[in-house]
Amino acid sequence: MDRYAVVGNPIAHSLSPRIHQVFAQQTAQALTYEAILVPVNSFTCAVDAFKAKGGKGLNITLPFKREAWELVVQRTPRAERARAVNTIVMHEDGRLTGDNTDGAGLLRDLTLNHSITIEGCDILMLGAGGAARGVLEPLLEAQPARFVIANRTGGRAQALAEEFADLGAVNSCGLDEFGAEQFDLIINATAASVGGEVPMISGNVLRPGGCCYDMFYSHRPTAFVRWGVERGAAKSLDGLGMLAEQAAESFALWRGVRPETTEIIGRLRNNNDGGRICSR
Ligand code: ATR
Repeated sequence: MDRYAVVGNPIAHSLSPRIHQVFAQQTAQALTYEAILVPVNSFTCAVDAFKAKGGKGLNITLPFKREAWELVVQRTPRAERARAVNTIVMHEDGRLTGDNTDGAGLLRDLTLNHSITIEGCDILMLGAGGAARGVLEPLLEAQPARFVIANRTGGRAQALAEEFADLGAVNSCGLDEFGAEQFDLIINATAASVGGEVPMISGNVLRPGGCCYDMFYSHRPTAFVRWGVERGAAKSLDGLGMLAEQAAESFALWRGVRPETTEIIGRLRNNNDGGRICSR
């Protein structure tokens, strides 16, 4: 059977094996998918070992997405831009190609699963690390009216905004620099949710009727999802749908067939996984 896996550290609470098992059943594909814990300094060895065992593809999660980007010989344009690889395709001739399905996953969840229109929308993205960088390209290509990156360390937001300025008007600021500005969609790409925190934002930034989206997921509502609910967001969503959609995108790359995500999103939503916060 064709072998696939997700590699990361930590990895024990990864939902990817469950998601891909459901996808495989649904699409009648014969494959195995496991979670592999990799010591932080052994990423390349782990990839080589999986390839030697006949592996066909890998998902990459924290902290190895950048290393995966460096390792592969070919990158898709969206992976190139994200400077991170979350999906590796292992070819018969030994070549590794790298893709990044995170941004497409977020966009599909926002637009298809939750009917949020990005075109013409005023978007505020919180955070300027790898999670933010990974999703910027598809968001900007969907032509929001206004896009602001806000970060605790303002300089990082500015650097990221400058790097993506060719894709549209991107502004940047610190978290405490909002005046009367308001946004239709606020996306949390900071790691604050991991610690149960919400980025400290000045001002009343959520426009009435606006939505909030936390790229993290937990069985219980994340601190940012609760923040959105408390401010009257029309929708305050966590990243479970993004998780399923980026997995479906990876599955389609490997197997040439796109699984349907409603079933797995419903199953995971109704299933207590212990309340762990995770991004994959
Ligand atoms: P990742 O690859 O997960 O994005 P990262 O590069 O370490 O990880 O970036 C984490 C992001 O979360 C950064 O934008 C960070 O802000 P700084 O650049 O100022 O460090 C942000 N972040 C983490 N904890 C936060 C908190 N408690 N409040 C606000 N922002 C936070």
